[in-house]
Amino acid sequence: MTDKLYKPSEKTINEAIIKEYDNKYKFSIDNSDKYWEEQAEYLDWYKKWDKVVDESNAPFYKWFSGAKTNIIHNAIDRHLSDSHRNKLAFIWQGEPGDERHFSYHKLDKEVSAFANILKAMGVRKGEIVTIYMPQIPELIFAMLACAKIGAAHSVVYAGFSREALAERIKDASSKVLLTADGGWRRGKIVDLKSIANEAMKRSPTIEVCITVKRTGQEVEMEQNRDFWYHDLCALPIASGKCETEEMNAEDMLFILYTSGTTGKPKGIVHAHGGYSVYISSVLRTVFDIKEDDRWWCAADPGWITGHSFIVYAPLINGATTVLYEGAPTYPYPDRFWRIISNYGVNILYTSPTAIRGLMRFGDSWVKKHDVSSLRLLGTVGEPINPAAWEWYYNIVGDGNCQIMDTWWQTETGGFMISPYPITPLKPGSATKPLFGIDADVVDEDGNKVKPGEQGILVIKKPWPGMAQTILHDADRFKEVYWSKYEKQGWYLAGDSARIDEDGYFWIIARLDDVIKVSGYRLGTAEVESALVSHSSVAEAAVITLPHELRGNAIHAYVILSQDYTASDKLNDIIKEHVRSEMGPIAVPETIKFVDSLPKTRSGKIMRRVLKAKAQGLDPGDLSTIED
Ligand code: WT7
Repeated sequence: MTDKLYKPSEKTINEAIIKEYDNKYKFSIDNSDKYWEEQAEYLDWYKKWDKVVDESNAPFYKWFSGAKTNIIHNAIDRHLSDSHRNKLAFIWQGEPGDERHFSYHKLDKEVSAFANILKAMGVRKGEIVTIYMPQIPELIFAMLACAKIGAAHSVVYAGFSREALAERIKDASSKVLLTADGGWRRGKIVDLKSIANEAMKRSPTIEVCITVKRTGQEVEMEQNRDFWYHDLCALPIASGKCETEEMNAEDMLFILYTSGTTGKPKGIVHAHGGYSVYISSVLRTVFDIKEDDRWWCAADPGWITGHSFIVYAPLINGATTVLYEGAPTYPYPDRFWRIISNYGVNILYTSPTAIRGLMRFGDSWVKKHDVSSLRLLGTVGEPINPAAWEWYYNIVGDGNCQIMDTWWQTETGGFMISPYPITPLKPGSATKPLFGIDADVVDEDGNKVKPGEQGILVIKKPWPGMAQTILHDADRFKEVYWSKYEKQGWYLAGDSARIDEDGYFWIIARLDDVIKVSGYRLGTAEVESALVSHSSVAEAAVITLPHELRGNAIHAYVILSQDYTASDKLNDIIKEHVRSEMGPIAVPETIKFVDSLPKTRSGKIMRRVLKAKAQGLDPGDLSTIED
């Protein structure tokens, strides 16, 4: 293979925390308990572990069993010493241009107030609080406040619809919902409270809804259920110290719903102990995070990227984290570069979709600003195409910043396959597994495939950031991730990949019926069930085709019910229906009305046939097709 290697500069190598890969990697795999114990020593514990990992009930691994901790103890409490408390913990910028800054001291005050309010509202250790908020500081306070008192949070992405929100509230049996009147997006108000109100009509478990005032428009409040956050803050219940709850390392920290093969989203469970160790360790080593760094992860806190790398890991590492509320191109396509130059951001972490979206406006929007504070760049969510990579490297990074292409998943908690700053790069490759991560590419039977050959990505050893289970569905957890290579005890990531002659990993695509649109993960089954929930739709199949900006775009094939005839109007109505069932990200680019769908004899829709046809390609083996 003759890929061009992008080598790190002298300066990058000198500054890097990780100086050497091969020996250290080997050590970390051969002595994984020792390696993880070393990483855990970076954190403070109320009580240390009896065992690094308890494998007695695998695949339900218990990390740092016997230990007592709380992620807040490391993310906030330990930074409240005289020398650190006045340091900036986070910088927030609203889309209209307003900004707020919080020191660790102030962050503690805000989180304690929110925690006191939650307690006064009856939230107890172990219950799940649902959060549906725009990207405002109170979203972060709410998450941290739940963790502080030992409640779990379930953040529902603010782009999700009332149906999706209602379904998630029900699954978590939440009694408390935290929301805002609205948020700003491209200069318009996203009316979150109205969506929350609709969702609450469908989810009877909610007893209390607390609303943060952000946009100030008129909203409907229901007596005895709805409270304004600022009213509660003014009450004596909000003030005073709030002790951080001592938790077992394996106690639930949060759940986060993600898409799988079936229509029902999975509530992925992460715990306090192992997750804290893992995410803080990988952020420190992959992005060389130092206390004085200004780190900007330009994701939405509503996804795992935001949970791990806007909120928890930067705070545990004592860095300054940046949060921006709105769209990258609002009001002009230089919003990102303006933010970087204004705040002196050192490290930017974003997605291929965002990079492609900014690239199309040309170089001058970047060049207008001094972004020389940047030291490292990062990307996540889908494979990055070489053109976007080159632009990011040459124009944004001015040829001076290594790009950390991080492969990971909601289920893995943090980065798994990624360069360290010292790693020579190949555009489009996430390079090599991180220390302690035993990743490989194998065939159906578990045999290692030859270099360059496509196979199935597996992780052969447990790691501290791994999901604990799926909420209320331990069987599904076993089935989805651990049954294919049950004998070997390997984790099935659900991606296909290849390893080249130099040991570099190349992620190819999902193996299952999970699709990636603008880096967002959706199940074809979820979109199909949203389609068939409209009265006009009898059957539906969904595929993705390559899209210049979004990576992939959704295309739907629909068989209409009797009494309905195809029309442009019906096409729009069905799209609108998907938007209200799932949210804007799931709306198909095109809907085609068809009379039949290619199926196997057992009735499974053959999406690959639809896809091949749409691309004018040979559909391949049709021997299993029914008709
Ligand atoms: C899936 C996980 C992890 C945070 C964001 C997405 C794809 C993720 C990369 C990358 C190629 C990637 C995989 C993975 N993916 N990062 N750097 N290169 N593909 O989390 O929503 O749980 O999705 O995203 O297909 O399985 P997620």
